[in-house]
Amino acid sequence: MKVIVLGTAAGGGFPQWNCACPTCRNPDLEPRTQDGLAISADGENWFLVNASPDLRSQILATPELHAGPGLRDTPIRGVLLTDAELDHTLGLLLLREAETLEIHGPPAVLNALSRFRDITDRYHAWTWSPVPDELDGITIKTLAVSDKRPRYADDPAPGPWVVAYRFEHHGGSFVYAPCVAHLPDGFEQFAAGATYVLLDGTFHSADEMPGQTVMGHLPIATTIEQLDLPLAFTHLNNTNPVIDPTSPERAAVEKHGHLIPNDGTRWEI
Ligand code: MLT
Ligand code: MN
Ligand code: ZN
Repeated sequence: MKVIVLGTAAGGGFPQWNCACPTCRNPDLEPRTQDGLAISADGENWFLVNASPDLRSQILATPELHAGPGLRDTPIRGVLLTDAELDHTLGLLLLREAETLEIHGPPAVLNALSRFRDITDRYHAWTWSPVPDELDGITIKTLAVSDKRPRYADDPAPGPWVVAYRFEHHGGSFVYAPCVAHLPDGFEQFAAGATYVLLDGTFHSADEMPGQTVMGHLPIATTIEQLDLPLAFTHLNNTNPVIDPTSPERAAVEKHGHLIPNDGTRWEI
C-alpha cells in the first residue's frame, strides 16, 4: 500500500495567513499545507483521505495524482473523510470538475456536508455513502474517536462526528487519526501492529494556546507518554514548536523515535 502525506498543518496552514507569531514569521521554516493523505493499493488508483482547502496545490505537487493518460482521466477515485471540519472538507468543492467521485464518511459527517452536496450535485452527481469495509483491495477499519461537531454544523445528529481509520493491505497496516480530543477506549488495540500511526499533533503542550482544550486536541507531550506505538504527527498548528526542526520539543519527539513528516512524505506499507 502506498501512502502520500499531502499536507501536515492544522486549519489555516503554516504559516497561517493571519498570524505574525515568531514561528509563522521564521523564513527558515518550510511551509505546510493543511492535513490530508492519498492512499493506493496499486499506485494507479488513489483515494484521498480528507480534502483540504489546499487540495489543488497538493495535487499539482504530487505527480502520482496528475491527470492522464486520457484527456479527462484522473487517478483520483474518491475521498474518505475522518470528520466534517472545514480544513478536512473544503477541498471537495475544489473537485467539482470531477465527473465521478465516491465520497465516504460517517453518517453524521455526510449529513453535515449535505450543504456542500447541494452545491456539487449541480455540477456532477457523485456517490455519497458510508465507509465501506474494503476499497480497491484496501481493508478499512474505523474507530469512533469523538462527537466534536464542527462549529458550522448545528445539527444535533448522533455521532460519531470524528473517526480514525486503519488501512490494511497485504499484511501492511497504517492508522490515521488527525483529530483526537481524548484517546478513545481501545485505541492502542486498534493501532497495534501498524507501521505508522499518523496522529493529531495540533499542539505540543497543554498550555500552548488559550482555549485549546475547547478545540479538542490532545497534545503531543501527552500522547508520547501514553502510547507505545510508532507515532508520526500531523495537523500541526502554527503555534506548535515541533514545526521548527531546531527546537528542543522537536528533538524530544524524535528522541522517542517518533516522526514529524513534511508534506510530500511517501510511505510504502
Ligand atoms: C479543528 O481541527 O479543531 C478544526 O479544524 C478547527 C477549525 O478550523 O474550525
Ligand atoms: Mn482541523
Ligand atoms: Zn503563527
